[in-house]
Amino acid sequence: MQKAIGVLTSGGDAPGMNAAVRAVTRTAISKGYRVIGIQRGYNGLLNGECVELDQRDVSDIIQRGGTILYTARCNEFKEEPYIKKAAEKCKELGIEGLVVIGGDGSFRGAADLSRIGGIRCIGIPGTIDNDIQCTEYTIGYDTAMNTCLEMIDKLRDTSQSHDRCSVVEVMGRHAGWIALNVAMASGAIACVIPEIPYDINKIAQKITNAHNSQKEHFIVVVAEGVENSQGITDSIQKLTGIETRLTVLGHVQRGGMPTLRDRVAASRLGYRAVELIDAGATNRIVGIKHNHIIDVDIQEALSMKKPFDVERYKVCDEITF
Ligand code: ADP
Ligand code: F6P
Repeated sequence: MQKAIGVLTSGGDAPGMNAAVRAVTRTAISKGYRVIGIQRGYNGLLNGECVELDQRDVSDIIQRGGTILYTARCNEFKEEPYIKKAAEKCKELGIEGLVVIGGDGSFRGAADLSRIGGIRCIGIPGTIDNDIQCTEYTIGYDTAMNTCLEMIDKLRDTSQSHDRCSVVEVMGRHAGWIALNVAMASGAIACVIPEIPYDINKIAQKITNAHNSQKEHFIVVVAEGVENSQGITDSIQKLTGIETRLTVLGHVQRGGMPTLRDRVAASRLGYRAVELIDAGATNRIVGIKHNHIIDVDIQEALSMKKPFDVERYKVCDEITF
């Protein structure tokens, strides 16, 4: 039987996942592999939901958001008997290498499948959160931030008309990366993220000071990981006397056409993932460091700490008043 590479998307979807599926498929075919697309993440692997992909099946998807392979969360995959079952399934399908496009949860599954099941797994970071320790960039991050920015620019119009303060909650799970960049790029008066403790009185004072210098409308960006967007909104209104509204951007941040940056990152990472499988590597995550493609052992990658960009936070804070 012709050797095969499997590819799946897992966890939350991210714009650019399709571009990664395309790159994996085309690279694998050009290296002489069959490609098996596994649908709905690890669930699909356990249930045998697979489609064979040829080079034309991935035509016309580089520009599409979402994932043609669908995605899912699969709690069973945290248990050893299911990992073994998935490994058996891979062997039945002739899959010698599996490319997993997802976030850190998905990579834990891939590490187990490598270690317990003996399947060569390579992870590609695909999440809007940019919270994977070993890489400076994850697929979907740029598109999500640009979507937030577009939404906040619209909010600014109506905040300005009504002399209001808009508190905007953005995604990021436990990380403040999206919030930090979006706050800076939208000129927000304050940015509240889980990595840096905040003082609501200081935020209110900053708004009041700006109000006293004729600023009439305000944007405050809050990362969902702070888990207090409504409380922050209510406190700002109470402490400043300025009408304050909360907008939770929600899942709109996960959709839409991937930006150039996401398509290029996805293409480069997908290509390298297949090169690694072809070279016999396993249990690795591909990533981007100083604009070069790198690869790191999954366990090592998951135990690393991602340093937070304090300098960026300082700039964001100090140039808005
Ligand atoms: P993400 O990959 O975006 O971080 P999740 O944390 O939801 O998303 O994980 C996606 C899937 O990865 C889970 O539904 C599960 O199938 C698998 N997974 C998560 N954590 C583990 C773990 N500790 N061991 C094995 N598999 C896991
Ligand atoms: O990991 C991507 C992400 O969109 C996070 O930013 C967010 O916390 C989470 O997924 C939301 O997950 P769900 O789609 O299950 O609501």
